[in-house]
Amino acid sequence: MASKDIKVQVNHLTKKFGDLLVLDDISFNINKGEFVCIVGPTGCGKTTFLNLLTRLIEPTSGEILIDGKPADPHVHNISFVFQEPSAFPWLTAQQNIEYGLKIKKKSSEEIKSQVDKIIGLLGLEKFRNAYPHEMSVSMEQRVVIGRAFALNPDLLLMDEPYGQMDIKMRYYLEDEVIRLWKATGSTVLFITHNLEEAVYLAERVLILSNKPAKIKAEKKVDLPRPRSVSDDKFVEIRKDITDMIKWW
Ligand SMILES: Nc1ncnc2c1ncn2[C@@H]1O[C@H](COP(=O)(O)OP(=O)(O)OP(=O)(O)O)[C@@H](O)[C@H]1O
Ligand SMILES: [Mg+2]
Repeated sequence: MASKDIKVQVNHLTKKFGDLLVLDDISFNINKGEFVCIVGPTGCGKTTFLNLLTRLIEPTSGEILIDGKPADPHVHNISFVFQEPSAFPWLTAQQNIEYGLKIKKKSSEEIKSQVDKIIGLLGLEKFRNAYPHEMSVSMEQRVVIGRAFALNPDLLLMDEPYGQMDIKMRYYLEDEVIRLWKATGSTVLFITHNLEEAVYLAERVLILSNKPAKIKAEKKVDLPRPRSVSDDKFVEIRKDITDMIKWW
């Protein structure tokens, strides 16, 4: 793979908190426009990895490069969707989606066209002027996802964003995130405990071990979209990954 196709390069990343070794010499790449899922047991260091990417914390050793330069939220456009919906309660759906674009001082025409596109893709027209307290949790999470994609991020980080949702809403939002990913060409790193979700979403799944986390395996998912969870090939890939996590 030519280096111009690589968006994120993780080189020998190690993180200790005091004596506690959490990430143990992790190396992998994420390609431009790729949708990668990371699965790993509770407490193995997934959120720690995202916190390193956004420079909330510094590595003990090793490095993370975005477009060949050290990851830096002041230089790179990194968006984050957390497990708990985190729309700004004092802003409407539309204002939440505009928020980052205004901070980036985009022109009003650019903001309008981008916000209209995202609202259209998310089917949020009727909720443009609604506040988070007037929405269901899943609706609020859609607004947060819209806010994240609106920035055309270099990298979109999603940390178990659908953990709290029922299965129907989860399927719906999974399709939505795929639609937005295709429409924007963003590179997405999505963390989940749910293997079916990982196979449904990802082009590649990275499987982490127990703490101290290493990458135990990776699995390419070269299934056409839309995917079906009951398709034979889908079931086979999910089973392969299930076999790989038996050491958890
Ligand atoms: N700031 C910190 N100081 C000390 N230890 C920490 C800190 N942050 C995380 N840890 C420890 O590092 C390990 C990994 O935590 P992390 O939150 O990254 O796991 P995770 O894989 O995201 O887990 P989960 O699946 O439950 O979200 C845990 O043992 C945690 O207690
Ligand atoms: Mg976590």
